[in-house]
Amino acid sequence: MQTRITELLGIEHPVVQGGMQWVATAELAAAVSEAGGLGIISALTQPTPEALAAEIQRCRRLTDRPFGVNLTILPAIDPPPYERYRDVIIAEHVPVVETAGANPADHIAAFRAAGITTIHKCTSVRHALKAQSVGADIVTIDGFECAGHPGEDDVPGLVLLPAAARQLEVPLLACGGFADGRGLMAALALGADGISMGTRFMCTVESPVHPDVKAAIVAASERDTELILRPLRNTSRVASNTVSREVVAVLTDGGTFDDVRELVAGARGRKVYELGDTEHGIWTVGMVQGLIDDIATCRDLLTRIVDEAAVIAHRQLAAFPLSQAG
Ligand SMILES: Cc1cc2nc3c(=O)[nH]c(=O)nc-3n(C[C@H](O)[C@H](O)[C@H](O)COP(=O)(O)O)c2cc1C
Repeated sequence: MQTRITELLGIEHPVVQGGMQWVATAELAAAVSEAGGLGIISALTQPTPEALAAEIQRCRRLTDRPFGVNLTILPAIDPPPYERYRDVIIAEHVPVVETAGANPADHIAAFRAAGITTIHKCTSVRHALKAQSVGADIVTIDGFECAGHPGEDDVPGLVLLPAAARQLEVPLLACGGFADGRGLMAALALGADGISMGTRFMCTVESPVHPDVKAAIVAASERDTELILRPLRNTSRVASNTVSREVVAVLTDGGTFDDVRELVAGARGRKVYELGDTEHGIWTVGMVQGLIDDIATCRDLLTRIVDEAAVIAHRQLAAFPLSQAG
């Protein structure tokens, strides 16, 4: 299945694995790329820019196919040295970068000057147009269904994607809620050129998270997420557990960030992935977990997605021959 995305990224299938803090390591990124998609390493999962350089080199040893690095720029009390991470990405000649979280203008200019293909991920049409105007080669649009930060507009993919597709000129990746061939075909029908997935790739054999986390994703339904930090306008979709429900309750009752600071601590959430104790802290997952029934290898997953999409395409073509459709 060839689209503008496969051509631009030099990949076999129009499927990208989005950046995932604590999850998107070299193993996962390389497995996705080896399976014909685009794997992405999360820069800030590495404790230092030097560690990121080592992780990129490790990924190169695992695959000779294209892969990317995600650089997420989020508001922080003590921000990481974003420019130094950026410099490592450039120095290591990574072919693709995914930026997310804030206006990427400065970073995109630097990446473009280094000949790196840039994907900017955002959650609204206005931010997508802005990213295009500052030079993003590809825009990823995350609908309200997505894991992580859906923004504050609450527009689901079914409306957001065509709204973006009819204004954007650069290729579009549909993101949030995708897990199978039906989703891929729907994304293409809505005007996207491919899909990007987080939760589905977190629940694969090669994903580095504890098996009990993967089992929890398989067991969960689409209703088992919470939107935390809404009153602070820094909404995040995470797994529903005692910790996330407490965060929602405290803030709904008028609490401040200080009242939930310890509950939402990243170090605590990271332990969930390591220990497999899904009640230990806040961990990120999307509504699409309700559509995930197995822990597949990345290769089996991608083969299944494109095969399923092809069956749907052929069936639709048989049901609506082009001569009848006009
Ligand atoms: C565990 C996890 C961690 C994530 N961390 C990040 C991150 O650090 N930066 C980022 O841009 N997106 C992050 N995301 C969002 C994904 O890249 C992607 O946009 C999202 O998962 C899409 O929704 P889906 O899970 O329904 O596929 C994360 C998602 C998950 C599941």
